[in-house]
Amino acid sequence: MNNILSVCTGTVMEAGLLSLDLADDLQISEKAENDWVTNADGAVEEFIIQRIHSHFPDHGILAEESFANNIEELSKKEYVWIIDPIDGTKNYARQLPIYGISIAVFKNSSHQQSKNFHYLSGELVAGAVYVPRLSELFYAEKGGGAFYNNQQITVSNTPSLKTSILATGFPPGDKTLSLKYFNKAAKHTAGMRRMGAASVDLCYTAAGRLDGFFEFALKPWDIAAGALILSEARGQITDINGNPLDLFSGDLLATNGLIHQETLDLFSGL
Ligand code: IPD
Ligand code: CA
Ligand code: CA
Repeated sequence: MNNILSVCTGTVMEAGLLSLDLADDLQISEKAENDWVTNADGAVEEFIIQRIHSHFPDHGILAEESFANNIEELSKKEYVWIIDPIDGTKNYARQLPIYGISIAVFKNSSHQQSKNFHYLSGELVAGAVYVPRLSELFYAEKGGGAFYNNQQITVSNTPSLKTSILATGFPPGDKTLSLKYFNKAAKHTAGMRRMGAASVDLCYTAAGRLDGFFEFALKPWDIAAGALILSEARGQITDINGNPLDLFSGDLLATNGLIHQETLDLFSGL
């Protein structure tokens, strides 16, 4: 395990323990309508940023609670750490066990025109998601496979939608589009799940517990770590129309690969 990945995994786990310590005395407020944040979201993010900067003072930070639209500045850094301190804040606030600490590392490359980001060009090189209440650690580095608690993982081999279990989520704002897709998927799959944390949905798809996951209106910090873990587990991830994933576009479809085209076909025309 290289140094960047070990800082990434160590930090998600330490931050996870901090989130458990803070969970008994939470103040919940709304960032926007129906978009919850707790005092722990900010405290955990601060802890993560300090920990990263103590190892890598020159690296850039793109973190949910302190994001300042400084993409141009970030594009000049060699590495950018993409952080969701608590993904699944509503679950966390209600003591539901599925929430994750999600950290990914993106390497900028001035000569490479990656389609991963339409603001930054380069590639994801490391990612980790920790689910503290279940002691589940998922991680990957580019080209090195994906792991769950030190065991290599791969996606499921479910061959078709009718025997697949898919997950989705709903954005805090307008849910009309999400419900259209949910309605269609619910009629053509073995079952739909709504876990409440996009990073965990991606890791559970990577580990073969789910066969696929789709959602709209997501942010880079919700999906960066999970996207690398899913790809390294030999899954397929695109935007909802089958184009290369753009972490800033908001929508995505992640599957075991075998059901990807069938899912795109099911959704076409919606
Ligand atoms: C949310 C979770 C949820 C998804 C929302 C996200 P947050 O992130 O990932 O599963 O449906 O769209 O905003 O706000 O808990 O970090
Ligand atoms: Ca999130
Ligand atoms: Ca969050």
